Amino acid sequence: MYRLFLFFVLFTASNAIAQTSNLVVSGPMLGHTELRTSKVWVELKPNVKGVKLIYNEVADTKATGTAIQSVISNLYTNTITFELIDLKPATDYVYQLISSDNKTIATGKLRTQSLWQWRTTPPDFSFLAGSCTYFNEPPYDRPGKPYGGDSTIFTTMAKEKSDFMLWLGDNWYTREVDFYSEWGLYKRPSTDRKMPILQDFLKSMPHYAIWDDHDYGWNDADGSYPLKQSSRDAFKAYWANPSYGVKDDAIYTKFTWNDVDVFLLDDRWYRSNDNMKDSINGKPNPDKQMFGKEQIQWLKNALVQSNSNPNINFRIIATGSQMLNHIKLYDCFLRFPAEYNDMIDFLTDNKINGVVFFTGDRHHSEIIKRDRKDAYPLFDITSSPLTSGTHSFGGVEKDNPDRVLGIDKLQNYTRVSFIGKSSDRKMQVEFLGINGELINSWSISQKELKSPK
Ligand SMILES: [Fe+2]
Repeated sequence: MYRLFLFFVLFTASNAIAQTSNLVVSGPMLGHTELRTSKVWVELKPNVKGVKLIYNEVADTKATGTAIQSVISNLYTNTITFELIDLKPATDYVYQLISSDNKTIATGKLRTQSLWQWRTTPPDFSFLAGSCTYFNEPPYDRPGKPYGGDSTIFTTMAKEKSDFMLWLGDNWYTREVDFYSEWGLYKRPSTDRKMPILQDFLKSMPHYAIWDDHDYGWNDADGSYPLKQSSRDAFKAYWANPSYGVKDDAIYTKFTWNDVDVFLLDDRWYRSNDNMKDSINGKPNPDKQMFGKEQIQWLKNALVQSNSNPNINFRIIATGSQMLNHIKLYDCFLRFPAEYNDMIDFLTDNKINGVVFFTGDRHHSEIIKRDRKDAYPLFDITSSPLTSGTHSFGGVEKDNPDRVLGIDKLQNYTRVSFIGKSSDRKMQVEFLGINGELINSWSISQKELKSPK
């Protein structure tokens, strides 16, 4: 009898798992989460329809809701983003994905942000960041040594108790088999996203992303990339950011986490080619742009608005290409001197406080400092690579005098923590290895990022 019971239990359990694997391709993944709403993303098998997501408070199982679906319809993959609404701030929720025949096919949990503004000091919190994720696929990879490294870094990151993950671009690498077709632009993220080693991490915290060249198009792709509209659609289908540029253009957006505003910039959509002339007749070429007039105008307004909000202590500007590297051997903002000068002057003239840049792309991590004449110094924190090939400092870049900290030849991710009272808030930046070991760290206080009166 006991054997029969055991068989029944095992059969039921294995059947449940089979059900799940039959319907879900990847996810669930948490997306944009704020005080009273949250997004949950999932990719289902192509023929799976009629799935719904229900949720309730952990402390009150009767307080249930059914999520709203925003289906990103595309010809190639079955991705759904659910929006959970009418939530309470600082509250734990559980959710269930339910199939059309009423079976639970996935579960997860989330916590909403706190309503602390005008009430208390901002909560301490941390987020993770990283760039350059390459999963090997030998038939389509370049011959020779595999480019993708040890992906157990994601198992380590899934165990972190951070509030969210910021993907800093090159989050997947389109290859020749991908970037010449619309189908390929969906096939690559679908292939990478379903890696078993990613699944726990996707569920463990909200994910926000920007792209760089490899998840937008081919190497060093610029605004002329002919499939950019499809690439934007694929990006929207695979992430759950708050918004994606304006109208039908670009993917830039902004979100707030406690006392930090995060500006996610699109460094590809409007980009002039990197090899276009930087200067004409000895003057910065006004037509050479990395972000474009429309996006820069948006950023300026968003920064001034943010600067007048007393509840915001730090302003993170995140983008793929490095922002302050004067060596400019590879992709970086300094190769666009007209836009660079305009942005730095704007930050100084408008006394925008608490600005720190976060970038990726380089296959090494570093912090670059640039002093300004009449303002606090600017810092560019580059976090790279998560799993792609590593880079070693060499040539003229070996001893970059602006480098405050450098990590080469190592896969790594970054943990950024905000600690302390509002008047004396600190940002701590830790670079961690594949097993979570601390490689190096650096910190700065909000007082050091204040403009002179
Ligand atoms: Fe890149």
